[in-house]
Amino acid sequence: MSDTNQIDLKWERRFETGHDRIDFEHRIFLDIIVSIKEEILAGRDKARILRLLAELLAYSHFHFVSEGNIMLDCGYPGYKGHADHHQHLNEAFHDHMRMFEMGDKAANDILDFLVEWFVNHTVHEDAKIAQYVRKHPRR
Ligand SMILES: [Fe+2]
Repeated sequence: MSDTNQIDLKWERRFETGHDRIDFEHRIFLDIIVSIKEEILAGRDKARILRLLAELLAYSHFHFVSEGNIMLDCGYPGYKGHADHHQHLNEAFHDHMRMFEMGDKAANDILDFLVEWFVNHTVHEDAKIAQYVRKHPRR
């Protein structure tokens, strides 16, 4: 089992960006990842895990549009780079899912990808949006 699978997946203070809407959506995002982890650890069938992954993929599409609107509303200067990053993440997630479905990727590898995505993108990138919104409220 990999390192990320040892992590107790719970909401932590360091995940908070300080932007209510972003934090609310991130909590749901993490909640779906926790469900996926539980299903994997319980050894549930692949179809069930794939259904949850599809839920997370759909949610991430929504969440990225939502975050995009927040960035545009406050004139966030890093919008383009952040939006590109979102697109890259969604494409990578989709690829991981396809490989898992085809049997070319282990469930634990997908979990590693999701946890890393959540922790790194949230802590390092989304926090910058929240910081900017605080200084430059909606136009
Ligand atoms: Fe983001």
